Amino acid sequence: MTLTLHSPLDMHLHLRDEAMLKVVAPLSATSFAGGIIMPNLVPPITTISALVAYKKRIIEAMGAHDFEPLMTLFFKDSYDFKFLSEAKPYIHGLKLYPSGITTNSQGGVSNMDIEALRETFEAMIALDIPLLVHGESDGFVMDREREFGLVYENFAQNFPKLKIIMEHITTKESVALLDRYENLYATITLHHLLITLDDVAGGMLQPHLFCKPIAKRPEDREALLDVALRAHPKVMFGSDSAPHPISKKECCGCAAGVFTAPIALQVLAEIFEQHNQLEHLQAFVSDNAKRIYHYRPLEKKVILEKSPFLVPASYDGVVPMMAGRNISWSIHSVV
Ligand code: DOR
Ligand code: ZN
Repeated sequence: MTLTLHSPLDMHLHLRDEAMLKVVAPLSATSFAGGIIMPNLVPPITTISALVAYKKRIIEAMGAHDFEPLMTLFFKDSYDFKFLSEAKPYIHGLKLYPSGITTNSQGGVSNMDIEALRETFEAMIALDIPLLVHGESDGFVMDREREFGLVYENFAQNFPKLKIIMEHITTKESVALLDRYENLYATITLHHLLITLDDVAGGMLQPHLFCKPIAKRPEDREALLDVALRAHPKVMFGSDSAPHPISKKECCGCAAGVFTAPIALQVLAEIFEQHNQLEHLQAFVSDNAKRIYHYRPLEKKVILEKSPFLVPASYDGVVPMMAGRNISWSIHSVV
């Protein structure tokens, strides 16, 4: 059995820089036609010149594959209309991180008060630039995303023309917000469709499944699966594939991030097949994103085949999700 996906897109991807970039960029570029690239480098990408230089390094690292990196700037409330109109041709969104909430987010926003953000949000609306948000409060770890729901509602109500993408949603409450506000959209990762907190910490601690936002309860995973499997028109696949070297994962003070880029499409096919929803995978991994972002991707056909693939133990010292396990779908060819 085979399945052809047209121009699959990864709408939330960490490619890092330098040696790590060279390891991971070709893995995404092999099977995806494009992806939204996160700006949380050290230092974060906050200028057009840094963004253009980073995009060039990504393209060099990708090798011969056809893949379009869709760049984002790290949100600052100091961005004004003049700056954003210069940035607009180079970007597909601004990524807002609450200060200190996750990896390399120290320079993020500490005050979610809409008056402090109004000028930047209004410029984004005028220029049609989406706002991508890491939605977590600084509360108790299992409640952070739910608490941030109030911020999403405040943003959505006060700026109904701002396109807001709730990144890597993990709760049933976030899923419910999609139908409540026209201007809220979401990305969903592979790992949050598969795991709950039990898989991370219910038995022996699993550092390679530790990420932000942390995986939640079974009922949250069910709500995510429900909208992903029927390719709800406001959800898109965004892997949040976040590689860290093994030394930063298997240690005291494990870094947050699950590395899924090399297995993402294959395992999505497995999940959608198990639920008899394979016909919705194309919308989840490409068509919805094209419509939401008004984006026309490079033409690329990825042919998946139902034949076993043994997930490598590591890619140059970066351990993927499901390392050492057999998955039932593999990539047959890309044309
Ligand atoms: O688990 C995560 N890892 N969540 C994030 O928000 C950031 C990411 C990273 O950059 O490592
Ligand atoms: Zn991320």
